[in-house]
Amino acid sequence: MSSLTANLVEILQLGPEIAGRVELPSKHWPVPGQFLACQRVTDEMEILPANLFPVLGFSHLLTVGPIPAVWQPGDQLACTLPQGHGFDVPVSARRVGLVPYRVSPARLMTLVTPVLTGSASVALFYEGHLTQAVLDWVPSQVEVLPLSELVDNPGWPDYLAVDLERTAMNIFFAQFKRHSLQCEGGVLVRTPMPCRGLGACGVCSVHTRRGWRLACADGPVFPLAEVWHVA
Ligand code: FES
Repeated sequence: MSSLTANLVEILQLGPEIAGRVELPSKHWPVPGQFLACQRVTDEMEILPANLFPVLGFSHLLTVGPIPAVWQPGDQLACTLPQGHGFDVPVSARRVGLVPYRVSPARLMTLVTPVLTGSASVALFYEGHLTQAVLDWVPSQVEVLPLSELVDNPGWPDYLAVDLERTAMNIFFAQFKRHSLQCEGGVLVRTPMPCRGLGACGVCSVHTRRGWRLACADGPVFPLAEVWHVA
């Protein structure tokens, strides 16, 4: 598998997660929903990679997380090329809904700037309370609404981006009436991915309409229609 080297420049605390800003040529940046499987160059004995997803927005540095607590600015990282399938928001989408379901909104925030640049409306649907620190990440053009607004108006989005744990799929989809979510969409399924996209261990299996699929290779973003009501 091809490998890249990145420099960890800065550490950020994003709620309970730690993120880092890394120097990496932009042609190798993952798109929202893809990940880089990374190890610290000095951790020769480390077996499992840290799967790092783009978070917040994109600037001259790539911001990724979650990074291990022991990593420090100045560390060199060995990374794979971007792994898996990310979100694919159609340019025709006029209303885009973001649902970080019981997880941090940081990964879905990477979609905001590209979508706003395309002049679409963006709404962030959230269950529970967003802290002011999290609200500070959200551009003023993004409407922040309770998740119940989406449950009551499932026809609003043209495209829906969901981020959730694999174990939360049933409970999330159970809130919607069958066939009520007709829009296109992508579901970022969070699951352990220990073999860095090799498809060798099966730990990241996700039940879809096409049978069992691997989050590391077939996902981690699955089409909404593939996982809707089969989780
Ligand atoms: S992480 Fe091993 S098969 Fe997906």
